[in-house]
Amino acid sequence: MAAATIALIEGDGIGKEVVPEGVKVVEAAARAFGFDLKWDRLDWGCDHHARLGRMMPQDGLDRIAGHDAIFLGAIGWPTVSDVESLWTLLMPIRRNFQQYVNLRPVRLFEGVSSPLANPGSIDFYIVRENNEGEYSEVGGRMFPGTDQEMVIQDTVMTRFGCDRVMTFAFELARKRKRKLTSATKSNGIIHTMPYWDERFRAVAKNFPDVATEQYHIDILTAHFVHRPSSFDVVVAGNLFGDILSDLGPAVTGTIGIAPSGNINPERRFPSMFEPVHGSAPDIAGRNIANPIGQIWSGAMMLEHLGAKEAAQAIVTAIERVLASGENLTRDMGGTASTVAIGQAIADAVSVHPAEARRHG
Ligand code: IPM
Ligand code: MN
Repeated sequence: MAAATIALIEGDGIGKEVVPEGVKVVEAAARAFGFDLKWDRLDWGCDHHARLGRMMPQDGLDRIAGHDAIFLGAIGWPTVSDVESLWTLLMPIRRNFQQYVNLRPVRLFEGVSSPLANPGSIDFYIVRENNEGEYSEVGGRMFPGTDQEMVIQDTVMTRFGCDRVMTFAFELARKRKRKLTSATKSNGIIHTMPYWDERFRAVAKNFPDVATEQYHIDILTAHFVHRPSSFDVVVAGNLFGDILSDLGPAVTGTIGIAPSGNINPERRFPSMFEPVHGSAPDIAGRNIANPIGQIWSGAMMLEHLGAKEAAQAIVTAIERVLASGENLTRDMGGTASTVAIGQAIADAVSVHPAEARRHG
């Protein structure tokens, strides 16, 4: 098989520390299972902005449109406004490459303690709409700086956009426990959210074998805390999905381990894999950031590329290292460094590929 070409963007802050650990582990797994990867390293981010006045080159998207995947660390640094840094790099990639599914697994691992006294077994997916909704460029400001100052930001929901992400979620649910939860707020947001519910019911008709439930986002956050083990697949619009995908991992102990795939299911464009967490300027450069979110994102990338055994070997290695309790970063109650935990997982992948294969 020809080598898969990966656009590698460390980005900013702890992205520069966790990405090398992600690459180390992905390389170890790829090597163990005979999968060839070519990394195209791109220095895009806030340093690039400081030097050249933009987050990525003008033809940046064209340069990576033909790549097989994008492996991203984190974007954002206090020297550049979030609107500038995120909306000229992260968002254009998500949108122009039609990565309309943001897939975010939530799992409680042995060895990591949940803040809940009795968490039960937690293992579900959040399917977040990733291209429209509340994250919209429609709106504006009038009468700036005056007493009449006003701002409007419109939420955009399309039939096409709702149906395609919901269809993905139903198909995922069908491969799992056949249960799909939808996040709504149709009692307060009376145009877009009833429409979301309407499309959910319409798409559900194509999946009569999948049980459905719908909750308003306020009570759903309470259910995430009170009975996280009851969820299997949760589908949500852009903003609710964003919030739930920090809350879910927090309930499993730390958002430091949480991965995500920004997926273009049709594979017309590359998909992008990045941790759920941000660039964390407060702890950047100290070798204490948790690299597992990045490493697990690497496993999702390998799976997407068809290297299923290599992907499973990484997840198994993460399980093993966490369960041993010896390599926990600060957010998990330990003192291990970023590099130490990355190395431990890479070692576990290289030493036990055959065993990992059996587990898969
Ligand atoms: C995420 C992040 C981004 C989002 C921010 C950085 C714009 O929080 O990937 O969850 O809200 O999508
Ligand atoms: Mn977020």
